[in-house]
Amino acid sequence: MKVLVVGNGGREHAIAWKLLQSPKVEKVFCIPGNGGTATLPGCQNMSLQVDDFEGIARIASVQGVALVVVGPEDPLAAGIVDYLEYRHIPVFGPNKEGAKIEASKSWAKHLMRQAGIATAKAEEFTTLAAAVQYVETQSLPIVIKADGLAAGKGVKIAQTTEEAIASLEALFHLGTSKVLIEEFITGQEVSVLALTDGSTVVPLLPACDHKRIGEGDTGENTGGMGVYAPAPWVTEAMMQRIESEILRPTVAALQAQGITYRGVLYAGLMITEAGDPLVLEFNCRFGDPETQAILPLLETSLFGLLLACAQGNLAKVPPLEWKSAVSVCVVAAAAGYPDKFSRGDEITGIPTPEAPEISEVEVFQAGTLLTQKRLTTSGGRVLSVTGIGANFSRAIAKAYAGIAGINWHKQSQPCQRQPT
Ligand code: AMP
Ligand code: GLY
Repeated sequence: MKVLVVGNGGREHAIAWKLLQSPKVEKVFCIPGNGGTATLPGCQNMSLQVDDFEGIARIASVQGVALVVVGPEDPLAAGIVDYLEYRHIPVFGPNKEGAKIEASKSWAKHLMRQAGIATAKAEEFTTLAAAVQYVETQSLPIVIKADGLAAGKGVKIAQTTEEAIASLEALFHLGTSKVLIEEFITGQEVSVLALTDGSTVVPLLPACDHKRIGEGDTGENTGGMGVYAPAPWVTEAMMQRIESEILRPTVAALQAQGITYRGVLYAGLMITEAGDPLVLEFNCRFGDPETQAILPLLETSLFGLLLACAQGNLAKVPPLEWKSAVSVCVVAAAAGYPDKFSRGDEITGIPTPEAPEISEVEVFQAGTLLTQKRLTTSGGRVLSVTGIGANFSRAIAKAYAGIAGINWHKQSQPCQRQPT
């Protein structure tokens, strides 16, 4: 069977790679893909944009693809699933209404309140004056969030009132029409991604994402600099609470609003010091780089799972099987990311899958382009390198062994932080 993957990140490289491990999948098309999917055996890039729904539907029909898998949030929020379903093309991902769970933090907050799901307290504002007046009365730190999509960079944790006001001014100045001002929660963060067909919910392994750019959890938030899975401190009992107190009620609340949510429900959680799981955000898709750490541990056919979600028969799928190993993914980013960074630098030294010293290492390309056999950087997060091992020190060593020989001009230092 043929599958079409929409997107061009490390996440989509990992999804295409995993889909191709299913004996049923003979070919994967990636739209537009990247340098990694261009050279992945069995995979072919198609140079269309992710918002070209008509073009994507045409390729899916002409090629007779069995499933379209949508990676990024933007096409989901813009209604790609509605467009394809209307044309009877099987697709994995939530529809436009469902994608609001990520596309509008305010909408998601209302849904959580209605469903009684634990989340940080927040107030929303549509004018700068009212927002400023409010922060002046609040304790610090305080969290400022733009309502809409911001590629993981729409959250500011302000340590002072001045900082909070400056970020509110910047947001409204940039044209943000609504902001949320949220209480600052402390605890340990974990991402729990679940597959769902709108009624059955199947959580994947809990993963811990490092969001900030700098060492020691400092600096700006990014799309994600690295991740480890499974988070050993998230117990089976905690996973059960997350499932019964957060994931299932959310899918049920969506269903109660007439939204059959098919795809990944990604819960960004804080486990508070009191030991309670609380939602910081929902995303409507696979995480990046969580996917690059989680999928290498999955033994069950990804294709079978995603198709079951799209077809509404996830309940018939046997329990997931996982490798008894752990994984660590390290992102190598371009110098300057998440602010201004250079593109077009030639990348060398990516290990080939056959190299014995990099067994148990997967290099998933993200911001890369292959043009006339020349691999260059094209994005901020250039590569995500996953090491797999029996324990975390081994998996970390594997990931860094995979990165060791890779180079590009004006090369940045990959994130050296390690899970503790
Ligand atoms: P979000 O995009 O909402 O997940 O926010 C990005 C990051 O900001 C999260 O992963 C947290 O590290 C941090 N964050 C968001 N909301 C809060 C909060 N209410 N309290 C503390 N940290 C937060
Ligand atoms: N790793 C964070 C995200 O995918 O949103």
